[in-house]
Amino acid sequence: MRYEIIPNTLFIENRVNFTSLMKENTIAILSSNSIKHTNADDVLGFAQNNDLFYLSGIDQEETILVLYPNAHKAGNREILFIKETNEHIKIWDGDKLTQQQAKEISGVQRIEWLHDFEKTLQLMAFEADGLYLGHNEHIKRATFNQQTEQDKMISWCKEKYPLHEYHRAAKITRALRPVKSTQEIALMQKAADISVEGFHRVLKTIKPGIKEYELEAELTYSLLKNGGTRHAFKPIIASGKNACALHYNTNDAICKDGDMILMDFGVCYANYNSDTTRCFPVNGKFSPRQREVYTSVLHCLKEGSKLLKPGVISADYEKKMANLIEEQLIKLGLLDPKEVANQNPEKPLYKKYFMHGTAHHLGLDVHDVGLYSRPFEAGMILTCEPGIYIPEEGIGCRLENDYLLTDTGNINLTEAMPIEIDEIEQLIQNY
Ligand code: GLY
Ligand code: MN
Ligand code: MN
Repeated sequence: MRYEIIPNTLFIENRVNFTSLMKENTIAILSSNSIKHTNADDVLGFAQNNDLFYLSGIDQEETILVLYPNAHKAGNREILFIKETNEHIKIWDGDKLTQQQAKEISGVQRIEWLHDFEKTLQLMAFEADGLYLGHNEHIKRATFNQQTEQDKMISWCKEKYPLHEYHRAAKITRALRPVKSTQEIALMQKAADISVEGFHRVLKTIKPGIKEYELEAELTYSLLKNGGTRHAFKPIIASGKNACALHYNTNDAICKDGDMILMDFGVCYANYNSDTTRCFPVNGKFSPRQREVYTSVLHCLKEGSKLLKPGVISADYEKKMANLIEEQLIKLGLLDPKEVANQNPEKPLYKKYFMHGTAHHLGLDVHDVGLYSRPFEAGMILTCEPGIYIPEEGIGCRLENDYLLTDTGNINLTEAMPIEIDEIEQLIQNY
C-alpha cells in the first residue's frame, strides 16, 4: 500500500452506521471493482469500489463484503471474502492480502476465500428476507455501457434468489458518505497538502514555450513523490483559450508568452480526493485584463464560499453564486446591465460566460455521492469553484478550493495553496 495504514475504527464505525440503516433481517452484499485492462495483457489500473472501501478498507480486487446484522449465528454477521493467492500469482503479481492482513485492515473478524462465497451465502441467504446490493447510482455515472462487478452480482443474486426482496445499498451510502468523520477529514487534508506541493512545483517550472503536458509531468512527479496514490482525475492544464473548454485535458499545447493557464487538478490519497483549480500567467505577470478577470473570480470565490455553511440548500447557494458572477460580468463589461434587467430568467445572460455548478461534494469520489436536495451539514466537504470563460479574449478563469463545513461556517482545506495575484506573480518570478 502506498498510503499509511488507516486505523480500522473508521471502517468498523462505517459498518455500524450502515447496518443501523438496513431493514430488519436483510443481508448486504458489496462487491469490489475489477482491474481494468487495456489491450492484450496490460492493465489500465485499479481503483476500488468506493462503497466497498468505505465499509471495509480493502483496496484489492476480487473482494466481497457480506453484512447480516440480524444473523442468528454471530459468525455470519460480518464476512469478508478475499482472493486466495497461489504460486502463479505470487510469481507474476507479488503479494496479495493474507486473511490476517484483511482482518487487521477491515476489523472484520471472519475472513473467507472468495471461492467459498456462493456456498457460504447459501447457508444463510434463506434465513433473510431481503438483499441489499451495490449499484452505481451517481447522477453523472459513466458506467452505462460497462458491466461492473456490482451489475454481475445483481444478475447472479436475482437468478439464485429470485424471491427475496431487493434493496439499494447505494441509498444508504449516499446518506452516510457526505458527512465525513475525523479520520476521513485527515485523509482529505493530506490529499490537499500534497496538491499544494504540486502547485509549487508547477509554478517553479512554468515559462513561455513549455508544453502543457510538461507541467502535467511535474505535477505527476510531485504527487507521486509526496505519497499521493494517483491523480484524482485527469488534470486539466489549459493555456490561453483552451481554458474555455471546461473538461479540456489533452494538455498538448505550447504555453505562450502572455497567456494565462488554468490548472484544475486533484490528488487521490488512500482513495480520498482533493479538487483544486488555480490560474497563473505563463510569463509570471498577469496582463491587465487577466488581472481584472481573475480579481472578479476571486471575489466570487471569497464571497460565495461564505455561503457554504450548515442549513443552506445547494440550489439557493448556486443562485447566489450566479448573482455574484453576473455582477462581475457587468463590471467586466461583458454584460449590459439594462439587458440583464430585462433578461428572460429561464435563459440568463451570464450563462454565456459561466455555465457550470460551483459546489459539489468531495470525498471518495471527486464528485462525491450525496443528494443536493439535502441541506448542507457540518462535516460535509464541498468545493467552491466559480469561473468566467471568455473565448473571444482567450481567457478562461476558474478558482477552486475545498471547504469543510463546521457548525459555524467552514474551514478551507486548501488554504495553503497560493491564490492571491501578487503572491502567485512573486512565486513565479522568484523561483
Ligand atoms: N475537476 C472537476 C471539477 O472541478 O469538478
Ligand atoms: Mn476541479
Ligand atoms: Mn470540482
